[in-house]
Amino acid sequence: MNHRIEVALAGERSYPIMLGKGLLGTPNLLEPYTRNQALVVTNAAVSGLFLDQVRRSLTSVDHLDVVEIGDGERFKTLDTYAAVLDALVDNRHNRTTTVVALGGGVVGDVAGFAAATYQRGVGLVQIPTTLLALVDSSVGGKTAVNHPAGKNLIGAFYQPHAVIADVGVLATLPEREFRAGFAEVIKYGIIADQPFFDWLESHIDEILDRDPACLIHAVRRSCEIKARVVADDEREQGRRMILNFGHTFGHAIEAVTGYEPILHGEAVAAGMVMAMDLSVRLGRSDDRDRHRVHRLIERSGLVTEALDIDEDALLDAMGMDKKVMDGRLRLIVCDGIGSVSVASDVPEQALRWAITHGR
Ligand code: NAD
Ligand code: GLY
Repeated sequence: MNHRIEVALAGERSYPIMLGKGLLGTPNLLEPYTRNQALVVTNAAVSGLFLDQVRRSLTSVDHLDVVEIGDGERFKTLDTYAAVLDALVDNRHNRTTTVVALGGGVVGDVAGFAAATYQRGVGLVQIPTTLLALVDSSVGGKTAVNHPAGKNLIGAFYQPHAVIADVGVLATLPEREFRAGFAEVIKYGIIADQPFFDWLESHIDEILDRDPACLIHAVRRSCEIKARVVADDEREQGRRMILNFGHTFGHAIEAVTGYEPILHGEAVAAGMVMAMDLSVRLGRSDDRDRHRVHRLIERSGLVTEALDIDEDALLDAMGMDKKVMDGRLRLIVCDGIGSVSVASDVPEQALRWAITHGR
């Protein structure tokens, strides 16, 4: 069964997340969101799997080009972004074109930033192909590339015209990538929905087996929560920060380990464990909630104990995170599963405790 989830933004910028299994390949699926031109941005691995299906959904477009970018976080750069712009210029795309991002978060972030800036903004459709992209990066309009000084330092808020969320794409996703994406699904339960967290606990085996009905429910609930938060606070002036639960720790882990050995979702999982420990230390959550989060992360195969990270280096890296405002580190803490809030001025001792206990 297909679902439509609305990301309700001001004016005409609202857009649907079309969710189902087997959507890709439906003739004219993208007709409502495209005009005469389109550029599909993808990578070689994903293109081999899904480009033919996407082409079938784009038959209404007369002028279709494809650009493949390098595979992996190390290609989320200004050079790659420039290569996408070159493809648009060289193939004479005008302001009526639509950039179609077909891939995981790396493709989505680069393609989204190119769409945001080419001729001051052209159409964008996100077709996420990883679990992380389905439940997080394709929704909400954050686009960016990395700079040697930091992750996502150059980017824009730019909303797509539609997200095509086909859980069928997950059949080919490597196990490790799947589990890493699942960390973000767990996050939604922790930040906003205790019954969903309960459901994840009781369906974890089916989800890891990629049962389609369970996948649709997990992606649906995740997208509904993200859509609501983004609709309330599109540009992260306040409430949207709750989506960063575990991420300040996670981004620091990624920075300290040099991004290569650990996937984003794995770092977020480790960060959520630390954030739960911090929440207990600050008296916001009890030990039972902490244990439940640890246990679900563990059962998802996201074991974090093996991380060998220098405590001071991690604290340093946390100071560089974009969530620091006026020199004060603000962290999202859990007030019991299903609810979170912002903690400002967290004592360094409490942070150190969380870092050393949460792994
Ligand atoms: P990714 O884009 O690198 O994809 C992971 C790997 O899976 C790649 O090798 C890719 O080629 C492969 N792949 C993709 N789909 C596949 C499929 N269906 N079958 C087989 N292989 C497939 O990684 P990711 O985890 O999707 O995204 C991580 C990126 O997302 C990071 O750069 C992160 O900063 C960004 N991100 C952005 C937001 C946002 O709001 N914009 C949110 C979270 C993360
Ligand atoms: N991934 C966090 C956000 O979209 O705000």
